[in-house]
Amino acid sequence: MQVVIAESTTQVGLLAARKVAQVIRRRADAVIGLATGSSPLAIYAELARQVAEGELDCSTLRAFALDEYVGLPPGHPESYRQVIQREVVEPLRLTPGLVHVPDGSAADVAAACTAYEQKLAQTGPVDIQILGIGSNGHIGFNEPTSSFASRTRIKTLAPKTRADNARFFSSLDEVPIHCLTQGLATILDARELVLVAQGAKKAEAVAKMVEGPVTSMCPGSALQFHPNATVIIDADAASRLT
Ligand code: F6R
Repeated sequence: MQVVIAESTTQVGLLAARKVAQVIRRRADAVIGLATGSSPLAIYAELARQVAEGELDCSTLRAFALDEYVGLPPGHPESYRQVIQREVVEPLRLTPGLVHVPDGSAADVAAACTAYEQKLAQTGPVDIQILGIGSNGHIGFNEPTSSFASRTRIKTLAPKTRADNARFFSSLDEVPIHCLTQGLATILDARELVLVAQGAKKAEAVAKMVEGPVTSMCPGSALQFHPNATVIIDADAASRLT
């Protein structure tokens, strides 16, 4: 695992965007793994700038989201399908039919998870997976105790994750209890991983991921098994590293 402590919080997004753009320039139909949440927004903003200025073309990219809430009405602005539409598909001018998000409103959730894994297997492997990390060490929505062998499945969000994500909803009660998420084994199938983290709230999770033992109590520590993982963080997120 390579750890890069960026000179500033702004640099975190720019350095990660550079890695993603390199992959896209090498292969116009690359498969990109998308994270949602606040951490990758600066990456998407920089890629969108490059697209707007004619430096990058994302129209033939294929993309897979990491996760989705279960139980939000279709079209809810905080469903990850909508977030990805708003933050990624439109600004990067992706082709909507090439972007996949687990179906959190499927009547048969298990079948939706199997279908997602099949689509990934047909299209993938993912060339570069963008990741954030939860303050409890989750990646995707693989909460502590998730199996390293896990694949896309339904999970219960940890109370800490629901509390952290309540900022996107009008109250904690509105935050869904369940989600669909790629498993840790699914994530580790990607050719390259780039995880970004900013701010002191992530410092403990970052230290456990990078320096702690590999344990399901810190799902991010699974990155220690990956041959091509880069963690790009700011000084605050790095503050608990020894
Ligand atoms: C979201 C995801 C999560 C987030 C994590 C950090 O698709 O995969 O693992 O990356 O919860 O969220 P933020 O970036 O909002 O702090």
